[in-house]
Amino acid sequence: MSTALIEARDVELAFGETPALRGASLSAGPGEVLAVMGPSGSGKSTLLHCLAGILVPDAGEVYFDGQRIDNLGEARRSALRRDRFGFVFQFGQLVPELTAEENVALPLLLNGVRRSAALAEARPWFARLGLDGLGGRRSGELSGGQAQRVALARGLVARPRVLFADEPTGALDSLTGEQVMELMVGAAREQGTTVVLVTHEPRVAAYADREAVVRDGKAKILSMGYAPGGAAERVAS
Ligand SMILES: Nc1ncnc2c1ncn2[C@@H]1O[C@H](COP(=O)(O)OP(=O)(O)O)[C@@H](O)[C@H]1O
Ligand SMILES: [Mg+2]
Repeated sequence: MSTALIEARDVELAFGETPALRGASLSAGPGEVLAVMGPSGSGKSTLLHCLAGILVPDAGEVYFDGQRIDNLGEARRSALRRDRFGFVFQFGQLVPELTAEENVALPLLLNGVRRSAALAEARPWFARLGLDGLGGRRSGELSGGQAQRVALARGLVARPRVLFADEPTGALDSLTGEQVMELMVGAAREQGTTVVLVTHEPRVAAYADREAVVRDGKAKILSMGYAPGGAAERVAS
């Protein structure tokens, strides 16, 4: 019995001869902010991609909201990513041809929301994230911190159940990084979004309810500050 919203169980995945995950188990509860730490090359991104249905594990299982998702076909995993998950990556990955506002509206447009309605949803994020007046800019006209806040708004605008963030402050200076982190965790908590946050900065992990560490393709929960539903957490060896 588990109350996890998103969970990996004994996930294994190799890239050719390179074993990236070797029986990794990890879970996050509804509304929980989970920091995933660990050295470079330990398998953090691969684990995040497995949880998000981007990569399919060779062995093990992935569950979202009580349903197994790793065995779904690409079309259904893609729909899940579009409808239920949000993403923020290290380098914002904004679409350079679009304005900041259009970038934020993009997940809604992909979900079939009409353009005017999508832009109306996107706009309040600019004031909320300290980006007033920047909605018409393109990514080339934004600072790194501004672009990452736009990427954050894009990740949250469709009110995903889970936000996956892979080193979202990795390319920012520490002050800017902390501001982005505070905004991210604040906005996610406000709308009850679960956050799986990969980072190798301990300072960043301080914003999380719990920390896990990935080493040699295995994951381990370090702190137990938050126990969703009081359920015992799975801890991998
Ligand atoms: N697309 C890929 N092709 C081949 N090897 C990969 C690929 N992605 C990751 N790896 C390898 O898998 C291991 C884990 O990588 P990754 O999950 O990116 O680690 P982290 O995010 O912790 O730095 C590393 O040895 C890495 O070189
Ligand atoms: Mg990585």
